Amino acid sequence: MAQIIKAIRGTRDLLPAETALWNRVERTAREVFARYNFGEIRTPVLEATELFARGVGEETDIVSKEMFTWEDRARAASEKPQSLTLRPENTAGVVRAYIEHKLHDTGQLQKLYYIGPQFRRERPQKGRYRQFFQIGAEVIGPASSGSESPLRDAEVLEMLAALLDKLGIPRASAANEYKGWRLLLNSVGSSTDRPRYVAALREALAPVKDRMCPDNQRRADTNPLRVLDSKDEADQAIIDALPRIADYLDDASKQHFADVLATLDACGVPYTVNPRLVRGLDYYTRTTFEFTVDLGLGTQNALLGGGRYDGLSEMLGGPRAPGIGFAIGEDRLILTLLALAEAKAADEGEPAPAKIDAYIAPLSPAQNAAALALARILRGAGLQVEVGDGTFRLKKSFDAADRVARHIVILGEDEVTQQQATVKAFASGEQRKVEFHTLASTLRA
Ligand code: HAM
Repeated sequence: MAQIIKAIRGTRDLLPAETALWNRVERTAREVFARYNFGEIRTPVLEATELFARGVGEETDIVSKEMFTWEDRARAASEKPQSLTLRPENTAGVVRAYIEHKLHDTGQLQKLYYIGPQFRRERPQKGRYRQFFQIGAEVIGPASSGSESPLRDAEVLEMLAALLDKLGIPRASAANEYKGWRLLLNSVGSSTDRPRYVAALREALAPVKDRMCPDNQRRADTNPLRVLDSKDEADQAIIDALPRIADYLDDASKQHFADVLATLDACGVPYTVNPRLVRGLDYYTRTTFEFTVDLGLGTQNALLGGGRYDGLSEMLGGPRAPGIGFAIGEDRLILTLLALAEAKAADEGEPAPAKIDAYIAPLSPAQNAAALALARILRGAGLQVEVGDGTFRLKKSFDAADRVARHIVILGEDEVTQQQATVKAFASGEQRKVEFHTLASTLRA
């Protein structure tokens, strides 16, 4: 026998037992985003490599080592092959679409959300995959549309808090031993603050970098900001003593950050300012944030990340269009919800699995057509219906039906002739004949 073919490392199949929860999460996200006046955008999974090189940044881990990139064949001899990439994130793609479709010309603030797969060649582990899903949103527009306002930062953060609350993820607090979600926030300053800060970092790192791990030595040269979110234990004392970005913010950036914090206070959204939060993408300016959770994710505890990117549109050749957004790691959100459900089941016992309304069991192949025709009517009335297992053995049909459905609907020769089904409700054990035309209402009751 030929060897079986498996899904490639870092990718996985989601089977119906899992996708039910994924769909519930996506439905909830869509409902919440709609209340904040966001509309859905769908951009291609495949983009020009240059989009990420320019948008996310050549020196970032994502672009320098994690992208799935290849040279596509040229269509004609005169053409150069094009470098293509499976998107590692979706902010650059959304801003490309904003520029390409001249959304700027509307003069309006664009509030866009997306749900879809992203690809990064990372070392797979729990909560970290090579194909993963993000639920994200971006708010972008000309400055005259209010896109730069700290209100927009706070609104996005308050919306995230509302979504996590609605999904039933607790907020971290002393009452639950700080298990739950926590918002970490920082300002990385404007595009003029940052070079001054990076220069100060380089200067401070120069005399100490030889004592750091090889990764941090490399980052000290290529992208000193990345040193700040290093997890290397031995390097922490050096990192703690490095200059802080807060001391390099200009007055406008300081005021912006203070206004964001004040608005969050007014909305009752709890946060912790983390001066070391810089994040791994080069487009960020001013507000950056992460939501972490202490449940089910192990070391991959960043549930979502985001921030402001006031210069990204210009980096991609577009007009000035400040923006802010986030992306939730949907895989991680699901792991968190599963961990919560497991903890709840341990406290309260397993909940009974949800059952469909009816399982129709034809008693012989002669009733197959009638069974499917009846299923069509019941499904049309909005009921969830399965049609029998094809063995035509009564005992086996009862067992199969009891596992998945609240009722079994038996269709033999008599039932079809009389247009009456034999129906048994498993909860009460009651069995009776029901006319086809009243079946939907009986099953619904
Ligand atoms: P990011 O921090 O790179 O930001 O990713 C956002 C979230 O995606 C992470 O917090 C994590 O939950 C999830 N994630 C990232 N990599 C993986 C992976 N390999 N496996 C599973 N989940 C993963 C961005 O992507 C930005 N585009 C967010 C943004 C939107 N900023 C502004 N607007």
